[in-house]
Amino acid sequence: MVGTPQPAGCLLALEGIDGCGKSTQAELLLGWLRERRPDGKVELLREPGGTPLGEDVRELLLRGAERGPMTEMLLYMASRAELYEQRVLPALARGELVLLDRSYYSTAAYQGAALDQDEDTILELARLVTRGREIDKVVLLDIDPRQAAVRMAGEADRIESRGLAYFERVTAAYRAFAEAAPERFLVVDASEQPDKVFAAICAGLSDVV
Ligand code: TMP
Repeated sequence: MVGTPQPAGCLLALEGIDGCGKSTQAELLLGWLRERRPDGKVELLREPGGTPLGEDVRELLLRGAERGPMTEMLLYMASRAELYEQRVLPALARGELVLLDRSYYSTAAYQGAALDQDEDTILELARLVTRGREIDKVVLLDIDPRQAAVRMAGEADRIESRGLAYFERVTAAYRAFAEAAPERFLVVDASEQPDKVFAAICAGLSDVV
């Protein structure tokens, strides 16, 4: 939001389709960031989730009854509203570093582009919900959806079972967001082995944190 003073601190986000290896990289990155920050104060928060209400919404979204795309989008936003209010904005105001495991770019890709809802409107709504606090750097773990599908283990949840065509649309949306804002996105090839992916993330973030 132009003109709105941004709270201090640093806000990072990890993004990518299901099966891109995001959880592994989030844990590795958390350790690396904690070592780099003089105060060691780094929070890893997930979307949806990260608050009691957010975790209930997560359960509802991933396992609950069927619902329309608009309801789904708003539920993700509701979880985000609570997370920013309770955790993200207070931590940033204390000057801390916050690492988000997913962000409003997930909603714009998964519920916007891939479910035919207007992406710009979703991003506008996200600006309201986040009080205009933009993400300083988004790490996009880029991978071919076919390769990601092979990596997905265990029983698929509601979103994971949407199939290849859906994840191709999500992937295309992520790539378009990164292309439109190259200064904000760090795109990493997630088809590599985890240690190589991690090294690429650290190299890309070393001048940010
Ligand atoms: P996770 O498995 O990465 O924790 O994310 C939960 C699922 O929710 C994943 O399939 C992506 C999906 N998702 C959306 O569809 N929209 C969103 O806004 C967010 C944050 C996640």
